[in-house]
Amino acid sequence: MTGASGTAWWRVRRRELLAELGERDCAYAYDLATLRHQARAMRGLGSVSRVLYALKANPHPAILRAVREEGCGFECVSPGEVERVHEAVPGVQPDEILFTPNFAPRAEYRWALERGIRVTVDNAAILRDWSGLFEGREIFLRLDAAGGRGHHEKVRTGGRHSKFGVPPEEFAELPRAVAASGARVTGLHAHGGSGHFDPAGWAEPARVLAAEAARYPGVRILNLGGGFGVAAAPGEAPMDLAALDAALAPFAAGAPGFEIWIEPGRYVAAGAGVLLARVTQVKRKGEECYVGVATGMNSLIRPALYGAYHEIVNLSRLDAPATVRCTVVGPVCESGDELGRGRLLPPCAEGDVMLIADAGAYGRSMASHYNLRAPAPEIVVGG
Ligand code: LLP
Repeated sequence: MTGASGTAWWRVRRRELLAELGERDCAYAYDLATLRHQARAMRGLGSVSRVLYALKANPHPAILRAVREEGCGFECVSPGEVERVHEAVPGVQPDEILFTPNFAPRAEYRWALERGIRVTVDNAAILRDWSGLFEGREIFLRLDAAGGRGHHEKVRTGGRHSKFGVPPEEFAELPRAVAASGARVTGLHAHGGSGHFDPAGWAEPARVLAAEAARYPGVRILNLGGGFGVAAAPGEAPMDLAALDAALAPFAAGAPGFEIWIEPGRYVAAGAGVLLARVTQVKRKGEECYVGVATGMNSLIRPALYGAYHEIVNLSRLDAPATVRCTVVGPVCESGDELGRGRLLPPCAEGDVMLIADAGAYGRSMASHYNLRAPAPEIVVGG
């Protein structure tokens, strides 16, 4: 992803990145200026009243403080995430947080409601069965209204074969379950998946939610979720935010005129982070060239899990001609431990620093200690 200037921040700040890495083998590095720029782009959507940062993308405390300073609230999916917001962001108020659990235990809903945090409910059965829990509480309802969209089958959260949301055939009966629970519905929610670009992917669910809102007199908010695409692969065009804004405007401006909320994660954080990893070994196997780096799927699982594309460069030799086609792999004992396949790179040598771009979202937050290898530590390089 390139910044406002058309050049990726990490090209401009190459020297600083190499210096900050120091003697380390690997690290995630975050540029808060890029993060703020992306958060501002979302906040700048005229049709959108509220932006909740989906911190599952990256819950680093400095990132949470920065997005709050840019006027964002928080979308959380676990008590751990809610607690992280409270620890990281002094003075944060319960109404800046929306808690959107899925198949979570009853105690987690109670925990959030007792703290005055709004909760999104996506199952009519719990409204009926968890007697008294929602009595007098303000809730959002998550409807399966967005269809399944996104960059990979595993990130599509709408549609019949996804576990999220109240299914369309229950929409007509849902108000009865709400009435039985004693809850007050103030918002309707839909999120179809991650990494899609067509404005219809938000406008179409907005249309369904606006129609469903007629069943709930207290609804004034349509929460259209996240999923805003990030251009990471070659030839991918960036999201057209002006077109998105225009597509959503009728729902904000018409009668009854809803507040539109959104929950971006990747759009805000992806480009602000890179993974730096030193070359460990280079190996040839017939036609294949493998460049090994000090961390792999234990730090960044997206390529292995989704076949996700992340640009990779040799930061130590940024201006050297790229002449060798290589597959960049980590040290984990899995053949899927690849960060990028068939990439054109300059000849690489042990100790060179490779940079894996657009790794600020769902990088460290999805990392593991697989093979008992600690994931890359995180450093913040610019505010
Ligand atoms: N709101 C809800 C209810 C969500 O489930 C998600 C993501 C978001 C917002 C934020 O979506 P975003 O703007 O970041 O696309 N690990 C995958 C993405 C999974 C997203 C899950 N839910 C990836 O690395 O591509």
